[in-house]
Amino acid sequence: MRRGSLLQLLLLTLIAFGIGAAVALLIPWMPNAASKEAGRIWFTYWFATWICIGIFAIVAAVLVYSLIKFRVREGDLSDGPPVHGHTTLEIAWTAVPFVLVTAIAIVSAIVLAQNGNAGRDPLVIKVEAQQFAWQFTYPNGKSFGVLRLPKDRHVKLRLTSYDVIHSFWVPQFGQKQDAVPGQTFSLVITPTKVGSYPLICTELCGLGHSLMRSTAIVMPVAGYERWYRSSGAAPPPPPAGGGGGGNAAAAALFKTTGTCGACHTFTPAGTTGKVGPNLDHLKEAAAKAGMPLEDYVRQSIEDPDAYITPGFAKGVMSGSCCKQLSSSQIDQLVMYLAENTK
Ligand code: CUA
Repeated sequence: MRRGSLLQLLLLTLIAFGIGAAVALLIPWMPNAASKEAGRIWFTYWFATWICIGIFAIVAAVLVYSLIKFRVREGDLSDGPPVHGHTTLEIAWTAVPFVLVTAIAIVSAIVLAQNGNAGRDPLVIKVEAQQFAWQFTYPNGKSFGVLRLPKDRHVKLRLTSYDVIHSFWVPQFGQKQDAVPGQTFSLVITPTKVGSYPLICTELCGLGHSLMRSTAIVMPVAGYERWYRSSGAAPPPPPAGGGGGGNAAAAALFKTTGTCGACHTFTPAGTTGKVGPNLDHLKEAAAKAGMPLEDYVRQSIEDPDAYITPGFAKGVMSGSCCKQLSSSQIDQLVMYLAENTK
C-alpha cells in the first residue's frame, strides 16, 4: 500500500474517531454517580464504549476509503480480481477481538466482585415491596417509606416482595435489583454524595406501577446518626392540614407503612394517589353502598371486593394490599379515616 493511501486511511480514522468521541462526550448519557458502585459501573461502561469507538473509527475509515477508491469506473464491466483469504488479516481479526473481549470480561468480573462486597460491618436495611409502595426497615425495627442512607458507609439492602415482582432502582446508584415474592436478594450501596435521589420501581407491577416511587436521601454521617437515634424515640410528625394528636400514628401508617397513600387521594393525609377511589368522599360512598361509615371503611380494607366503587375494577386492592396489617392497625386506620373524612 502506498504511503499516500495509508495517510488517507489514517486521516479518515481520526475523523471517524472524532465523531464517535463527540457523540460520547458531548451528550450527558449518564446521571452523576452517587455511589462507589455506580462509579465502577460507569467505568466498565466507558471502558467498553471507548473500545467500540475505536473499532467504529477503523471500520468506518476502511469503508469510506474503499467506497471512494474502488468505485467502479465508467465503462468498466470486468470482474474484480479473485481473492482467497489473507492469513495475516484473519489472524489479526481473530486475535484482536479475543484480547478486547477478554479485557472487558476481566474488568466486568472485578467490578461485579467489588460491587457485591459489603465489607465487614454493613448497615443492613430490609426493603419490602408491594403494590404500590416501598418500606424500609432499619436495624432498630423502625420502618419508613423513604430510604435514608449515611454517606460513605456500606449499606446492604435485603429485598423482598409481598405480591408480584418489583424492582429497586436509584439511577444515581447505577444498580437495579428485583424484589421477588418468597425470595430475598441483596444489593450493596456505598453512597458517596449527599443529596436526594429518585427511587423508582422499574418492573411493571400493576396499575399503580408508575406511582411506585420514593426517595433515597444520602445524609452526612453525623446527621444520619442524629436522625437514626431520634427516629427511635420521637413519634412521627403529624401530617400537614389536620389529623393531629392521637391521629398522628394512624396518619403515618396511612402514608408510609401501608400502601393506602400510594393509591388513594386523601387530603387530610396529603396524599394524591389516583389508582383507587378518592377517600375525601368516603361519606357519600358509604351512603351509596348503604352502610354505616365505619363498617364501610372496615369492609373496604378487610374485604375490598365486597363492594366496588363504580368506575373502579375488582381485584386491584384485594390482590395487593393490607395483608400484612395487624387488626389493631386496621382499627387505627378505620378510626383515622372515619374521623377525618368530611
Ligand atoms: Cu412495583 Cu412497578
